[in-house]
Amino acid sequence: MTSNITYVFDKESFPFDTIVETGFGRGDTIIDMSPHVDRIITIEMNSESVLQMLPPIGVNFVQPPNSTILWGTHSPDGLQSLDCSGFGRTMWWLDAHGGVSNAVDRGIEYDSKRYPLADELEVVLKNRSGVSSDCILCDDYLMLRETFPLLASAVDKCLDKYDVVYEVLDVKKGYLKINL
Ligand SMILES: C[S@@+](CC[C@H](N)C(=O)[O-])C[C@H]1O[C@@H](n2cnc3c(N)ncnc32)[C@H](O)[C@@H]1O
Repeated sequence: MTSNITYVFDKESFPFDTIVETGFGRGDTIIDMSPHVDRIITIEMNSESVLQMLPPIGVNFVQPPNSTILWGTHSPDGLQSLDCSGFGRTMWWLDAHGGVSNAVDRGIEYDSKRYPLADELEVVLKNRSGVSSDCILCDDYLMLRETFPLLASAVDKCLDKYDVVYEVLDVKKGYLKINL
């Protein structure tokens, strides 16, 4: 599998020291990107035992030595607890959300615990204010916005508050890319 990060960045010349990912999922990003950074940290609300049932993790998953998986930790709390002082240039890969596709048809309402993107942005932008080399990349951005107007306005409020320059990349389901 290939990490979605590589839709936006060429991983061979990936200019970051650290990746902080929210949502481990099936481990694609850790497996794919760990050779290209000094450290990679993933925050995952499920326990290892739950995700071990899903391929490709299973019994074959070998955790890269430069990775840390914070199992059973919710985002944005896990983000808030990180000591980022030695992280260097950091890519924040915000991907901690469950299915968005047809969420409304499936009766799923917006809940910031289930779709914590606005709170995650707030934590990262607050903690990294003054840092001028990070990048924040949010997966499924356009789809999340279109599906949940409340999420869209919470994100807009945050982006206005921190007055950041951002772009929306219209590849796949849309990425929000903020260069700090
Ligand atoms: C789309 S998958 C992540 C895929 C992975 N980031 C990748 O690039 O391969 C979403 C994951 O986020 C986790 N998740 C959802 N909400 C979360 C939250 N608030 N905190 C931590 N993990 C969360 C889910 O359990 C699921 O494993």
